Amino acid sequence: MAVTCLDITCLCTFLISTVFGYTLSSDTEITVNPPQDFEIVDPGYLGYLYLQWQPPLSLDNFKECTIEYELKYRNTDSKRWKTIITKNLHYKDGFDLNKGIEAKIHTVLPGQCTNGSEVQSSWLEATYWISSQGNLETKIQDMDCVYYNWQYLICSWKPGMGVHFDTNYNLFYWYEGLDHALQCAHYIKANGKNIGCRFPYLESSDYKDFYICVNGSSESKPIRSSYFIFQLQNIVKPLPPDYLHLTLMNSYEINLKWSMPGGPIPARCLIYEVEITEDDTKWVTTTVEPEIIHIMRNKSQQLCFLVRSKVNIYCSDDGVWSEWSDKQCLEGDRQTKILLSFLVPFVSVSLISLLMSYLVYYCPKTSLKMICHTKKEVFSHQETLC
Ligand SMILES: *[C@@H]1O[C@H](CO)[C@@H](O)[C@H](O)[C@H]1NC(C)=O
Ligand SMILES: *[C@@H]1O[C@H](CO)[C@@H](O)[C@H](O)[C@H]1NC(C)=O
Ligand SMILES: *[C@@H]1O[C@H](CO)[C@@H](O)[C@H](O)[C@H]1NC(C)=O
Repeated sequence: MAVTCLDITCLCTFLISTVFGYTLSSDTEITVNPPQDFEIVDPGYLGYLYLQWQPPLSLDNFKECTIEYELKYRNTDSKRWKTIITKNLHYKDGFDLNKGIEAKIHTVLPGQCTNGSEVQSSWLEATYWISSQGNLETKIQDMDCVYYNWQYLICSWKPGMGVHFDTNYNLFYWYEGLDHALQCAHYIKANGKNIGCRFPYLESSDYKDFYICVNGSSESKPIRSSYFIFQLQNIVKPLPPDYLHLTLMNSYEINLKWSMPGGPIPARCLIYEVEITEDDTKWVTTTVEPEIIHIMRNKSQQLCFLVRSKVNIYCSDDGVWSEWSDKQCLEGDRQTKILLSFLVPFVSVSLISLLMSYLVYYCPKTSLKMICHTKKEVFSHQETLC
């Protein structure tokens, strides 16, 4: 039995060597070293980090070979690693600096270098944790950033809980294209403290990560920094639509039209929500059609509509609805006139009746007496006159 087994092993070895063109032998087992000097470097871009390393030692046997590196990294609280295969000696990406970062890398010799299957080195690890001073409650709260009309970025926040009154916060920002992180130039203040920032014009800042750090200082205790990453096109709040207009096509069909106020948002990037009120019925409809919808009208007395807009999924992942526009009504003027011509006499009559009742109830005690008295006097005068 043992002999047959050995025979089979030999046969297999023979077959494998024929097919793959090399011999299995422990003497020629190929190994490769991990890369050297693996490190995570923070260039001060508030979350955009460099992962860098040097080639492994003793690569002389693989001179004609392009070796690769498999890099894995994640924020420490995340379950999933991001994996990158690269031939370079560095990689750059954005990280959430509120948390720690861990990364690992190994060398990969592709199959064509080893006359067989791919060979991997052991892993080399690196971690990065921004020195986090101050306890969590000292961080700012309720950070809210809105990119108004794709033009003006405004962020606002509330101070951390239980921080000393001398605490003040500062905002720094960076995106690819800026040489270094910049501090907010126009703070929004309340009681002399910074509670928001009005950003300047942000040149070529769309569709890239925008990094913000809000840190603070206080004499009494250290303040924890907060980090944020977002893309500007995802927090756009357009201005409300303008120039609403209804056109009666015939007695049942109406066209609703509007336009967007000026600004950099292309019409193809907008979606609209139209709220229509017909007498007592209200309904909302959504349209991507630029600035016009066509509706059928029942025998309504009054038809009104208003519109709001948002950046659509073709131009961003998310957005903020604009405020509602002013309301526009069909024959609104005539309706108002009718209403007024009814209301004015009604209100006048009511007011007069109210005045009369007041006089009747309260006058006898005071004013009426006087009136009566005067009357009497007048009478007596008249009497004397007579
Ligand atoms: C792979 O095979 C070629 C030719 O068969 C040989 O010259 C080369 O040294 C081998 N490489 C390794 C790493 O074994
Ligand atoms: C706040 O962050 C900026 C930018 O990283 C840094 O230059 C500054 O020293 C920090 N200030 C405090 C008080 O930590
Ligand atoms: C218009 O009339 C039809 C039929 O009477 C009704 O089903 C529909 O809900 C009405 N539409 C509105 C907006 O009142």
